[in-house]
Amino acid sequence: MDLEIGLLGCGTVGAGVVSLVRRRAGKVADMTGSRPVVKTILVRNLDKNRGVTFEHERLTTRPDDILRDEDIQIVIETIGGIEPAKTYILEALRNGKHVVTANKDLIAVHGPEILRVAEENHVSVLFEAAVGGAIPLVGPLKENLTANEVTDLKGIINGTTNFILSEMTSRHIDFEEALAMAQELGYAESDPSSDVDGLDAARKLVILSSIAFQTEVHLTDIRIEGIRHVRAKDVRYADELGYVIKLLAVGRDHGGELTLAVRPTLIPKVHPLAHVSDAYNALYVRGDAAGDLMFFGRGAGSMPTASAVVGDVISLVRNLKLGYVASSPNGTLTAKPVVDREDDRYKYYFRLVVHDQPGVFASIAQLFGSAHASMETVLQKRVDGGCAEIVIVTHELSTTTARHLVDELQHLSHLQAVECVMPVEPVTE
Ligand SMILES: NC(=O)c1ccc[n+]([C@@H]2O[C@H](COP(=O)([O-])OP(=O)(O)OC[C@H]3O[C@@H](n4cnc5c(N)ncnc54)[C@H](OP(=O)(O)O)[C@@H]3O)[C@@H](O)[C@H]2O)c1
Repeated sequence: MDLEIGLLGCGTVGAGVVSLVRRRAGKVADMTGSRPVVKTILVRNLDKNRGVTFEHERLTTRPDDILRDEDIQIVIETIGGIEPAKTYILEALRNGKHVVTANKDLIAVHGPEILRVAEENHVSVLFEAAVGGAIPLVGPLKENLTANEVTDLKGIINGTTNFILSEMTSRHIDFEEALAMAQELGYAESDPSSDVDGLDAARKLVILSSIAFQTEVHLTDIRIEGIRHVRAKDVRYADELGYVIKLLAVGRDHGGELTLAVRPTLIPKVHPLAHVSDAYNALYVRGDAAGDLMFFGRGAGSMPTASAVVGDVISLVRNLKLGYVASSPNGTLTAKPVVDREDDRYKYYFRLVVHDQPGVFASIAQLFGSAHASMETVLQKRVDGGCAEIVIVTHELSTTTARHLVDELQHLSHLQAVECVMPVEPVTE
């Protein structure tokens, strides 16, 4: 028996979905007795070449051909963005259809509302592809690891910035050149701000931390810093000191209080996350029973993302056979305050530009000493125009002390600029 699917959008991900559903239909039919078939595909432009073959009459520009078709049981949304995707998904749920989506922007902001409507209508919403592309993250956090109290999430969950930082490291080029390469290769959009300013990683952190910490997390809860200010010289100094720079998304549950941040971070070269290069993604999870786990793989692309979407479709087909509906990934949510913990302790990397004059370093050392901030490593490099660069990696400091140091440094007469300050991730804790 055919199980009919409506596909909203047929771009990079949608085309991969059409081809993978076709490839796996026989296997699913053998497993469940139902053969998934993409019946109707909603697009804007009927004449575009989609790089995948199907009968032209399956295409439509009328959403109702899917949302009001009583034979369609599953709707896959791969349009992206908030509207019209949200309206279509809510209507599909209200019409009793199960939904699979790859849309992180929508789930990060409207996930609770969408899950509530699904629950009210006794249908499922699955969104494995919204975070980490092919890497199973949502499923393990909501199913396989539920016996754990998850305390830590640490991840490289934006492929574009990871590609840019990897190119800056291996080719010794600056941010702008690496960004242009990413755009040429299709890893970055023409407007790259959502990726390079950290928003895309923050949206994924909202989704992951809501599930892992069983609470409702909002985008505004996350301290977000992008990678535009990271220079080739920061990458080079980090390398000299034994680190690589990554845009790290971090979520921690400190016994009921959460800290959530996305920011460029120095990672020791011996840390497993330091080896996650190019457009790959990885997530490091700590559970009280499981210990430390790391998930690694392709975070984007047509077939890797289709792998997660079609995996959700197959779970749905199996569940339908069993008469089971899984609409809420979170179960009962606990309210957990998100705090900016002033006493969180990290080592910090500082890059300062100073006028190259006698006594400058002594005044900086005195300032750090009076803040009880001890230095682990110092590099001093001469630069053009009578200036020098001083790079300091401190021992562990509280966030308050690091902020206080940045403020106090501005008052030093020989200081030209505090150019870059980044936390340093410990090897192990
Ligand atoms: N690309 C990835 O590697 C990746 C990875 C993980 C998650 N995702 C998520 O997957 C989703 C889709 O991404 P994508 O890269 O496949 O996007 P895309 O290539 O831009 O494709 C979007 C598709 O939606 C259709 N569409 C857009 N607006 C529409 C409207 N108003 N009405 C009807 N159809 C409309 C487009 O139709 P036309 O073709 O006719 O213009 C196109 O087929 C997004 O939520 C994205 O965040 C993508």
